[in-house]
Amino acid sequence: MKTEWTIAAIAAASLLAVACGQKDEATSKNEAQAPPAAATAAPNAADTIKARQANLKKLGGALKAMTDESKKDNADLAVFKTQAPIIAGLAPQLHDWFPAGTGAEAGVKTAAKPEIWAQPDVFKQRADAFAAAAAKFSTTVDGGDLAAIKAGVAPLGGACRECHQTFRQRDES
Ligand code: HEC
Repeated sequence: MKTEWTIAAIAAASLLAVACGQKDEATSKNEAQAPPAAATAAPNAADTIKARQANLKKLGGALKAMTDESKKDNADLAVFKTQAPIIAGLAPQLHDWFPAGTGAEAGVKTAAKPEIWAQPDVFKQRADAFAAAAAKFSTTVDGGDLAAIKAGVAPLGGACRECHQTFRQRDES
């Protein structure tokens, strides 16, 4: 039993070491955790897919909270201050959540289309455009102008949709 614990601890420590070794300025601003970069840290495609889907759900939750808030007359700035960093922190990593071998061939349920790997330049471009939109929105939120913030939510969601339309199985955001 003791040996098992030790092995588990060593495994966890080395995973952590790998994860911490990645330079990741964007996440330092919030709690968002990068999934281990699959190509190096986790050769297990199924784990990579599950980790990215969990992160994508976080994106979905944050966007929904802000979309809902943006429709209110008395929208609360605090909601945007909390949610925008979640998106801005995860956005620069999104591209790396899709290493080769994490499509349908991995044998777990995924909505990632083969086009991601067939058109890597376009996929990268969509991911970069999204990261730029997320950074821009973050700046708007930092500015504190609620009208501008409310108006910025839809374009941010548009950057999600731009990618989903081509690269996600069901084309909904
Ligand atoms: C560059 C492409 C790209 C961008 C940008 C992008 N997504 Fe996605 N998204 C995907 C792909 C591909 C999937 C399918 C992943 C899978 O099933 O493995 C996905 C899946 C999702 C899911 C479903 C996760 C699950 O399995 O439950 C949600 C929710 C989601 N995205 C929300 C968002 C939101 C919100 C944004 C913007 C704030 C966003 N995405 C930006 C490509 C993208």
